[in-house]
Amino acid sequence: MGDSGVLPLLDRVAGAVSVAIGRTRPQVAGADPVVRRSERADFQSNVALAVAKRVGVRPVEFATELVEALGSDAGLFATVSGPGFLNLTVSDHAVWEQVSARLSDDRLGVPASEGGRRTVVDYSAPNIAKEMHVGHLRTTIIGDSIARVLSFLGAPVIRQNHLGDWGTQFGMLIQYLDEHPELRWRHDELSGDASAVSALDGLYKAARAVFDGDPAFADRARTRVVALQSGDPATSARWREIVAESERAFGDIYDRLGVLLTADDYVGESFYNLMLADTITELVDKGIAVQSEGALVVFSREVTGPDDRPVALMVRKRDGGYGYDTTDLATIRYRVHTLRAQRLLYVTDSRQALHFRLIFETARRAGWLTDDIDAEHIAYGAVLGPDGRPFKTRAGGTVRLLDLLDDAVAEARAVVAERNPELPGAELNAIAEPTGIGAVKYADLSTSRVKDYTFDLDRMVALNGNTSVYLQYAHARIRSILRKAGDHTARIDPAVTPEPAERALALELDAYATIVAEVAATLEPHRLCGYLYDLARDFTGFYESCPVLTAAEPVRGNRLALCELTARTLAHGLGLLGIAAPERM
Ligand code: ARG
Repeated sequence: MGDSGVLPLLDRVAGAVSVAIGRTRPQVAGADPVVRRSERADFQSNVALAVAKRVGVRPVEFATELVEALGSDAGLFATVSGPGFLNLTVSDHAVWEQVSARLSDDRLGVPASEGGRRTVVDYSAPNIAKEMHVGHLRTTIIGDSIARVLSFLGAPVIRQNHLGDWGTQFGMLIQYLDEHPELRWRHDELSGDASAVSALDGLYKAARAVFDGDPAFADRARTRVVALQSGDPATSARWREIVAESERAFGDIYDRLGVLLTADDYVGESFYNLMLADTITELVDKGIAVQSEGALVVFSREVTGPDDRPVALMVRKRDGGYGYDTTDLATIRYRVHTLRAQRLLYVTDSRQALHFRLIFETARRAGWLTDDIDAEHIAYGAVLGPDGRPFKTRAGGTVRLLDLLDDAVAEARAVVAERNPELPGAELNAIAEPTGIGAVKYADLSTSRVKDYTFDLDRMVALNGNTSVYLQYAHARIRSILRKAGDHTARIDPAVTPEPAERALALELDAYATIVAEVAATLEPHRLCGYLYDLARDFTGFYESCPVLTAAEPVRGNRLALCELTARTLAHGLGLLGIAAPERM
């Protein structure tokens, strides 16, 4: 099938309407044919209503002209309805041909529409020596799904895990470890284990408490920061140890979540240290960064603060130190010049919107970002607890990601066990893991990205409703039908007249490519979730009214083809969300 894919019927119909518009009324040629799926016919267009005024006739008349012009288009039946809608029905033959064409393609007929567009996806980015918490869940899950969708569509995707591995907190941590060798010993015992980062997190909190309460310690910690920044060997070695341990622990979580991130994608803040000076020099030389009260800043031309003065981006602090802002300036410059990215995506929570706005503005002024490069902050809302406030443990602490995944898997195990009491324990565990992990991911992906959502385990693992468990069961059920069919060749006979439910399912299957392209354009995975849910429901409607295994040929072959294409589309779509589709459940 190649990269061009199978053209969806909707696009083909829209094309035919466009041609008819141009043929009848050239003055509105190029108008959007506004074709949509419809309950009344396969598709409907309201272009006559939208542009009749410009043509100077009544919508109904224009629609009638279009019907006449379309009359010559083989395989498309058009009628006028109501005040000027066009009802558009494709031939039975065309419906089956689409199913057949998608079925015979590994890519399900989806074209590589992002082909060649080098895209950096910056996601996950937890902070070293701190426990990864529920706040890092969203960026990890959303970013991973976006990376999967774009690379499926042919974009060379460069994943970047911008780990928080640098900063003044390391001086504090290293100093504290040195002053408490007994902790260090216990700490070393833990290394290699996922709990190493918990130990580090505990150390961090203890160090922080002393730092805040003991000015003499705070001074020693600051001296240690200087030692780290100037490359003192002992201090650097200790820093590397801490980073390595955290990275191992993050890796364990990534494996468990089944996200694509590997050690090759770890390009933390420290990586940019050597580029900071050049970056700043360039901004100063270009007159973009200026002195202000002893610091070096970039005043925004686009954003003003509450005092009506331009908001400032901090390039170099008064004490000479560099922070998060400076690192991101060096990062964007590196990604454009060295990685040669054409599209830059940053997946972080919406509270960082201003930060990225200022970074992008500065990068444009510096000439790093040009018009042909697209930079976007992929913002998302907060995860809320049952009380509608930011999700916390009962004791008010941050929720550890690992605990949360354990809970979800336990919950999923209970749901699966209740449905299949006969399932042996080992098999149950093997199913519970992808089900529980999938449920957490799906709950996150299926709500509109910018909105907050409530973390509700019961709802996440529900068998009914828009959940991954529902989709996974739908997929497994179809697989079981296909197994029972035996060595079927799901062969299509395009001469069979489809039942309404078969037609609805086939047209939904045909829309897969459109939805995937839409996710790539909007970077909103919830659209794919909504599609898969509709597809699973269309399948249920079909299965209730159209027996498959007991049907006679050639109807049986067509129905098996619909089953197979539905199963493959569900599994593929879940795969783009980073969710497994077990064969049996
Ligand atoms: N480490 C940061 C945090 O936990 C996120 C980094 C996002 N990426 C970036 N290039 N700024 O908030």
